Amino acid sequence: MPVLDPSALGERLAAHSRAVILANQAPNGAFLAGPTFPQYQFAWLRDGAFIAEALDLAGDHAAAGRFHDWVAGLVAGSRVGLARAVTDAGAGQAPDPADYLHCRYRIDGSPGPEDWPTFQLDGPGIWLWSLGVHARAGGRVTAAHRQAAALVARYLAALWAHPSYDAWEESPEHVHTSTLAGILAGLRALDTVAPEALAGDVAAARDALAARLLAGSGAFAKWDGNPGVDGSLLWLAAPYRLVDPRSERFAATLARIEAELVSPDGGVHRYRADTYYGGGEWLLLTAALGRVYLRRDDPGDRDRAAACLRWIEAQAGADLALPEQVATRALHPEHIGEWEERWGASARPLLWSHASYLALRRELLAAS
Ligand code: BGC
Repeated sequence: MPVLDPSALGERLAAHSRAVILANQAPNGAFLAGPTFPQYQFAWLRDGAFIAEALDLAGDHAAAGRFHDWVAGLVAGSRVGLARAVTDAGAGQAPDPADYLHCRYRIDGSPGPEDWPTFQLDGPGIWLWSLGVHARAGGRVTAAHRQAAALVARYLAALWAHPSYDAWEESPEHVHTSTLAGILAGLRALDTVAPEALAGDVAAARDALAARLLAGSGAFAKWDGNPGVDGSLLWLAAPYRLVDPRSERFAATLARIEAELVSPDGGVHRYRADTYYGGGEWLLLTAALGRVYLRRDDPGDRDRAAACLRWIEAQAGADLALPEQVATRALHPEHIGEWEERWGASARPLLWSHASYLALRRELLAAS
């Protein structure tokens, strides 16, 4: 018997999610991360890559392809700076901010305002990974995509061991496990999208990165030496497929996430000390948890995944918009006010939340 009853709400929310994503894709392919939240009216590499993945899973290859065109254009326009960043990294220096790939761009491809934690190495890695998803799903990979993939691969191969802001745009002094995972997932996609780029330094860096990330024992940590766990570590199993969800290390990680970050109502927090808008439950992480359960497929896992989907559906407003996070069970509610004063209500809709919902829903329907 199918565990997922394709409810009327699910059908409507899925159609709405796709419509919101496409309505906020610029003609050149860029996605606005959060169209009504002023700080998010930019196109992020990370958000866009996860959105493109969801589109490819749904068979929307043309829209995903337009996003890859947009990234390829901005990478090509950054090639001189990227080459300098590689040289600087070779000399043991951090790249000049004018040279590195930024986390968020304006639709026209110019970097977003500088008052932002712009140096994030996971974004380009996740983009490369999403190009691999595009190729494997049957999307067209163009010569411009392959050239951009090769440039990004050289950049990441040179810089992967440098500290950078993480997926939550925080803690720049650390090398984050989740960032290493995004980069490794990206470098592994070269096999599919640009095998010719896997020469010399890039191949050596990929091996060294894999050894650093995957050799070892015990639960994965937010960064080496940090006693805490982070919800973005779910991505190692799903969607990146870097580790088997049944492996001892990932099982230990998942057990910690379930114990420390999954709220009694089923939503997933980013990490215990999170104070951004009070540290609510994030929809995109709850979707990742559902996808992890589906991939593990132990008895009861499909029901657990379906519960994740239902939880996300329950967060939709009457207008069907999905937020970035919900504050009902915020870890640090005393911090909500300061963020609301600074930036207004937290982002809603968030395209990445809608994309995550679509991806989990599709995988759940396929598994039922
Ligand atoms: C999140 C990032 C995200 C950005 C735009 C930030 O608050 O921490 O992961 O890329 O919002 O959605």
